[in-house]
Amino acid sequence: MSATTAAPRPLRGAIVGLGMMGRHHARLLQTSGLTTFVGAVDPGGDRHGAVADPALVFPTVRALLDHDPASAPELAVVAVPTEEHVPAVLELVAAGVSVLVEKPLAEDPARARELIAAVRAAGVQGAVGHVERCNPALIELRRRAQAGQLGQVFHVATERIGPFPDRIRDVGVVKDLATHDLDLVGWLGGGPVVTLAAQTQHRMGRRHEDLVNVVGRLAHGTTFTTMVDWLSPTKVRRTRVLGERGMLVADTLTADLTFYANGEVTSEWDAARTLRGVSEGDVTRYALSRREPLLVELKGFCALVRGDEQAAVVSLEEGLAAVELADAVLRSAAEGETVHVAPGGHATGAAR
Ligand SMILES: NC(=O)c1ccc[n+]([C@@H]2O[C@H](COP(=O)([O-])OP(=O)(O)OC[C@H]3O[C@@H](n4cnc5c(N)ncnc54)[C@H](O)[C@@H]3O)[C@@H](O)[C@H]2O)c1
Repeated sequence: MSATTAAPRPLRGAIVGLGMMGRHHARLLQTSGLTTFVGAVDPGGDRHGAVADPALVFPTVRALLDHDPASAPELAVVAVPTEEHVPAVLELVAAGVSVLVEKPLAEDPARARELIAAVRAAGVQGAVGHVERCNPALIELRRRAQAGQLGQVFHVATERIGPFPDRIRDVGVVKDLATHDLDLVGWLGGGPVVTLAAQTQHRMGRRHEDLVNVVGRLAHGTTFTTMVDWLSPTKVRRTRVLGERGMLVADTLTADLTFYANGEVTSEWDAARTLRGVSEGDVTRYALSRREPLLVELKGFCALVRGDEQAAVVSLEEGLAAVELADAVLRSAAEGETVHVAPGGHATGAAR
């Protein structure tokens, strides 16, 4: 007779911030079976109708925590505006609640470090919601690149353009969107960013930038480019990894992955072949199982809270590194310099 493993007890989960992102987390916290939903916090109430039981919507974190000690949350997803992350996290972790914090981890590196220190001091678990790492197309792209399908990887290019989501008030496109890309380039390219140079545009009359182009290099020589804006009339989410045998292209809107192989060129004159470069070869589109990235993220976080040290989550330190890279991008754009980035992400000075 085969032994069956009982499903683990659902963890008591809450959502803080019921906006555009929080409503999706709220749905999964109520329906995934991974958690027992114990409440939502939003001073503006449940504007998107995300919570089935209106009695579980609270105006403050304090009200959630004081509601019923028997149903105190074990974990909370923090999906408030970026500048509100630190106060929300401080209050939650002081009450012993583990936190999955939406990206970017905080508005600047100092605040991100403050957040991490509070989580560690409280002895709870924390992770950051860089949900692109849970996208099936990017997971498969990375697996194939690491397995050697591309041979040596030359370049990683990300493109994340589209119209402006009017609700973003507190940060610019670098911190709000490009933190995805600044996290992905090293994760996909297999090494940390060591130098970068950036150019920005301010076209919408807001305090913060609305377009950024970054060019840079990873530790072992792979180059990268990142194009991100809120000015384009169509939404594109595309990541290309180019290597000596071809190119893998992921579309994270549709979770599609395509391989463009280099053509086989037969020539008796090898030198001429080198000079001609590559030619077009076979194109393969892979059939992927399309798991919801946010559900994959929540599953990984629940495993972490249960004590699985190998759980597939993006660590708070990786979240800090993305915030530090965003800082380096803004500094490069402001000063018109190429910036060196020390291990761990922080900028150390202009590269000459
Ligand atoms: N992972 C992703 O792909 C992704 C996508 C979008 C947004 N985000 C991140 O999620 C966070 C929220 O973004 P959004 O687009 O949902 O914003 P939003 O403005 O739509 O929602 C934020 C919500 O938080 C509420 N709020 C404000 N202060 C609060 C507090 N102290 N306590 C509880 N609730 C509070 C607001 O009333 C609002 O309903 C941001 O950090 C953003 O960067 C991540």
